[in-house]
Amino acid sequence: MSVVPRLFELYNRFGMRPLTGYSSHHMHDWRDAPFTRFLSGDSLVGCAGLALEELLFLEGFREHIRPRNIMVVGNAHGWSTIFLALLFPEARVVALDIERSGVELTNSIAAAGELNVIAVVARSPDHLARVHADHLNGPIDFALIDAVHTGEAIRADHEAISKAAAPDAVHVFHDVINHGMIEGFKAAARADGRASRVCTRTPSGISILFNGNNAGLAAYLDCFSDDPEVYRLYREHVSRTSCDPLKAFIDGFGR
Ligand SMILES: C[S@@+](CC[C@H](N)C(=O)[O-])C[C@H]1O[C@@H](n2cnc3c(N)ncnc32)[C@H](O)[C@@H]1O
Repeated sequence: MSVVPRLFELYNRFGMRPLTGYSSHHMHDWRDAPFTRFLSGDSLVGCAGLALEELLFLEGFREHIRPRNIMVVGNAHGWSTIFLALLFPEARVVALDIERSGVELTNSIAAAGELNVIAVVARSPDHLARVHADHLNGPIDFALIDAVHTGEAIRADHEAISKAAAPDAVHVFHDVINHGMIEGFKAAARADGRASRVCTRTPSGISILFNGNNAGLAAYLDCFSDDPEVYRLYREHVSRTSCDPLKAFIDGFGR
C-alpha cells in the first residue's frame, strides 16, 4: 500500500497543502513544476522537494532493501524525511539542515505521526560524523543527498557518508541532471566503486549508488534509466520531430 496518502494527511494537518507532481508542460514549461512546495495560508513555502513521481519511484525500493539507519542531508520542510520514515517504519531516520524552522516543523510532524525520526540543525559535510554518532545505532544503510547542489558538494557529502555507511548502503542523489551535477556524481561513483545509475526517467535525474549484487534493485533501476547511446538517439529524434514553433526560425538563422 502506498504511504503517500498518509504523507499528505500529515502535512495537511499542519496547514501545509502539498503542491507537487505537475507536468512542466501544464505549468508554462517551468522546470520545477514536478517538485514539492506547500501552500501555507496564503503563502508558498518550500524549496523543490522530491516530486510526487519520485516518491512513487522510491516506494518501489521497499521490495529490494530493508534499511535500519537512514540519513537525509538537506531536510528543508521534512517532506522526504517524513516520507522515508513512513516508507521504512523499521528504520531510524535522522535528517540535517542548516535552517532551524524546517527542522522544528519536521520534528512536530514526526511526533504527530509517531515516527522514528529526528531532524537536527547541522551542516554537511562537517557535522555529518557527529550527527551519525549521536542519532543512529549502526552504519547508514540509506542516504538521501539533497543539500548543496554542486558537483563538489555532493562529492564531499558522499565521502563523509561513505565513512559511516554499510557496504551495501543505497545512496540517493536528488537533482543530479537538473542541477548539472553529473560530473560530481560520476566522481562519487568512481570513489565508491559500486554500481551506479543516473535515473534519466525521474523528473530531477535522481542518481543512485548501490550494491550491484542486489539483482532485484538493479533490474528495478534499469526501468528508470537509459543506455546513453539510445537516449542520445531518442533525444535527437524528438528534437527533429517535435512541434517546436521556433524551429524553422532557428534552423534558418544565418542561411
Ligand atoms: C532542495 S532542499 C531539500 C529538499 C528536501 N530533501 C525535500 O525533499 O523536501 C535543500 C536544503 O538543503 C539545506 N542546506 C543547504 N546547505 C546545507 C548544508 N551545508 N548542510 C545541510 N543542509 C544544507 C537548505 O537549507 C535546504 O533546506
